[in-house]
Amino acid sequence: MVAALGAGLTGVAGWDLFQRRHTILRNFPVVGHLRFVLEGIGPELRQYIVTDNNEERPFSRDQRRWVYASSKLGNRYFGFGSDNDLDRTHSNYPIVKHAAFPVSAPDAEPNHPDPKMPLPAAKVLGGARQRARAFRPSSLVNISGMSFGALSGAAITALNKGAAMAGALHTTGEGGVSQYHLNDGKLVWQIGTGYFGCRNDDGSFSLPRLVDRVSATPSIKAVEIKLSQGAKPGLGGMLPAAKVSPEIAEIRGIPSGVDCKSPASHTAFRDVDGLLDLVETIADMTGLPVGIKSAVGQGTFWADLAGRMARTGRVVDFVTIDGGEGGTGAAPLVFSDHVALPFKLAFPRVYRAFAEQNLHHDVVFVGSGKLGVIENALLALAMGCDMINVGRTAMFSVGCIQAQRCHTGRCPTGVATQSRWLEHGLDPELKSVRCANYIATVRFELLTLARACGYVHPALVPLDVIELLNADPQTGRADKLFDYESGWGLPGPADIDAITALMSH
Ligand SMILES: Cc1cc2nc3c(=O)[nH]c(=O)nc-3n(C[C@H](O)[C@H](O)[C@H](O)COP(=O)(O)O)c2cc1C
Ligand code: SF4
Repeated sequence: MVAALGAGLTGVAGWDLFQRRHTILRNFPVVGHLRFVLEGIGPELRQYIVTDNNEERPFSRDQRRWVYASSKLGNRYFGFGSDNDLDRTHSNYPIVKHAAFPVSAPDAEPNHPDPKMPLPAAKVLGGARQRARAFRPSSLVNISGMSFGALSGAAITALNKGAAMAGALHTTGEGGVSQYHLNDGKLVWQIGTGYFGCRNDDGSFSLPRLVDRVSATPSIKAVEIKLSQGAKPGLGGMLPAAKVSPEIAEIRGIPSGVDCKSPASHTAFRDVDGLLDLVETIADMTGLPVGIKSAVGQGTFWADLAGRMARTGRVVDFVTIDGGEGGTGAAPLVFSDHVALPFKLAFPRVYRAFAEQNLHHDVVFVGSGKLGVIENALLALAMGCDMINVGRTAMFSVGCIQAQRCHTGRCPTGVATQSRWLEHGLDPELKSVRCANYIATVRFELLTLARACGYVHPALVPLDVIELLNADPQTGRADKLFDYESGWGLPGPADIDAITALMSH
């Protein structure tokens, strides 16, 4: 019996090691099956023991289940009705008000998510300032910046190929452009305070190196200067020496085996004036749209930025706002939990600063911070975002199980690690398809929701279509809560006409 058991387990282990569908089984043969058994009987067990489907953070079990099903183009429906306690337990719970006469999908359109079906942004990136390489992004759902170094080469490959299949943009993260980013996905090259890929030996910014890199890499379609991210704003970064492999050292232009520090603040500019000068210089030299990414803290920066843009004509082409609830590879707890405003409070403050200068139609607004969940994404678009970036939900699509060990380098699914063994379980080919399916599903459900509200495109949904439910239970119209003036949150008249015409083809 022992021999038979041993042979059986060896057979299972062999199968686990050679199959490619499940990273967990490749990395943890035999014992990995426990995860699937527990997941399978979880709903029954949970009824008697622990948490419900809406517990677990940062993403609830229902939210993760929805992403996993979407990325496999599986059954993403839920039966029996909502298990959220709408009467009592929620605050700021978005309720979308549908139209009595919704818009029907055209007959010829597939009635399922399809990565080949684009959902363009309602604004042209770099259009207002007429940058030489301005373009209309073909996907209003794109992949947020997560560096090679924080994520494995296999995960970056999967995300980049997935972005290519779905026609989405892939922001590199501040770690620079690696070979894993060069799999046909269009890139937004993110530049942080370490200037990786465009730095001099002393760590200062090098414009010639940036220009060379852009000329040598046609897939770079925009540049994003990172001021901060929601999970650790006002804090520099540190990649410990152990993680600075020769490969990472070469990509970043730093010595290998030595701690790699990103300072808290930029050295290429010290104030808003200097920032706008740098944006204009990069845009002039490359022709690319250039934007910034930031979390939202003290408000004076935004008023100053919008004011100077209005007065001088120097502009940022896009602004990516990251909510304080955003993710990171590693951060001190107090920064993740208590520094920077959450997205729902952060974005309206920034939008207002630009709207008060009448610049809200000229800037492309991008949002991130748990926006890979449809109701959050629609609220962000109604508040005035033109595109959304998805980070951790895109990680789910390539295999992340929210084990929250990203900071240890021992990610069990090979997503956030530099361990060759753990990474080998993640098959980039298979996972890239899942990433593309997930992006397509977010677009599909956003479009479906917009049509249910009576609009042909999600960017046209006004903020008064959403109410936020509170525990009392009382609701407040979102436009009133955020004190929006009439027309705020929508594209300008010319953009509305253009996107309406595009959607009717
Ligand atoms: C593992 C990991 C690495 C990240 N690295 C970067 C980075 O290099 N640059 C950056 O701007 N944001 C970084 N972020 C933040 C994401 O780009 C995104 O702004 C944030 O997670 C919010 O989006 P989400 O809620 O969809 O994950 C990282 C996030 C994660 C989870
Ligand atoms: S599985 Fe865990 S450790 Fe790996 S990326 Fe996801 S949260 Fe991080």
